[in-house]
Amino acid sequence: MLPEKYTLGFFPTPLERLGNLSKMYPDYNLFIKRDDNTGLASGGNKTRKLQYFIHDVLEKGSDTVITAGAQQSNHCRQTAAACAKAGIECHLLLGGNQPKNYDGNLLLSHLLGANIHFTGDNRKGEDLELLKHKLNKKGKKVYDIPYGGSNLLGAFGFVEAMKELKEQLTDMNLKMDYIFFASSSGGTQAGLKLGIDLYELDISLMPISIDKLGYGDKTLDEAVLELLLEGQRLFRLKKEYSIKDATLIRGYDSKGYGIVTTYELKAIKTLAQSEGILLDPVYSGRAFYGMLDHLNNSKLNKNTNVLFWHTGGLPANFYYSKELT
Ligand SMILES: Cc1ncc(COP(=O)(O)O)c(C=O)c1O
Repeated sequence: MLPEKYTLGFFPTPLERLGNLSKMYPDYNLFIKRDDNTGLASGGNKTRKLQYFIHDVLEKGSDTVITAGAQQSNHCRQTAAACAKAGIECHLLLGGNQPKNYDGNLLLSHLLGANIHFTGDNRKGEDLELLKHKLNKKGKKVYDIPYGGSNLLGAFGFVEAMKELKEQLTDMNLKMDYIFFASSSGGTQAGLKLGIDLYELDISLMPISIDKLGYGDKTLDEAVLELLLEGQRLFRLKKEYSIKDATLIRGYDSKGYGIVTTYELKAIKTLAQSEGILLDPVYSGRAFYGMLDHLNNSKLNKNTNVLFWHTGGLPANFYYSKELT
């Protein structure tokens, strides 16, 4: 039912119980899905999407990939790694101005051989068409991966991930009640939701909004709904989707994208010091803070199984060392 893919990562990623943290929250049984361990140049959720993109790039006979994001974009770092492995030229459009020294994900994208273009205020692919035109004129066969890898093809990575989770839950004789995760360009969220409906699971998705801004002329909720409707037609799902199925949990994003506060720091330290697992300050740290807030303030049904889907992002910790010290 899903298209073919190019193998880039280590799957299935581990599903583990958070034993120490569960003791701190005795009303809940806490688990983690380790997509920080997907294996591609320090891992992360985008590996799942890129397996579908890279297969498509090669099938279409393209030799050059362009994509866009912030300077600390994990998506761009993993795209650079995927292109290196598949022998594809990679161009990244990264917001902001060129810094004197490279750090975190930007440093890794550079080491992975990506051609980096700094795009000032534009960090969501606004300049993609212009660069594509220039590269096409030079004779390159260009494939553009949208901002965050969030179209339906990218979302397939998370439809498949839900099948993977279902198999793990069956093997472990477990039922999951909630899944918390970071949602920022929407592909992960749309894929997980479609996967839940396609594989007939009864789990509440808890997508924590990371970036209060939408992109283009859409809110993120609207962008997610569009992907759900596209997926519904493709998979012939009986479900009728509305904006309620695509709504993100807001409030933890109020400081804005990439602004690291004591909340993210608290979340990172809590998981690091209870379980020895590292989050990142932009995405997974913010989402984990959202989950802790739900646990601390009894916003979930008691005696339930709660999964945190760790989407990676480790390299950004080094860039944000000042805020995290
Ligand atoms: C570490 C991490 N977690 C979560 C996300 C959000 O995924 P999506 O863009 O599919 O919403 C990203 C996106 O860049 C990410 O880098």
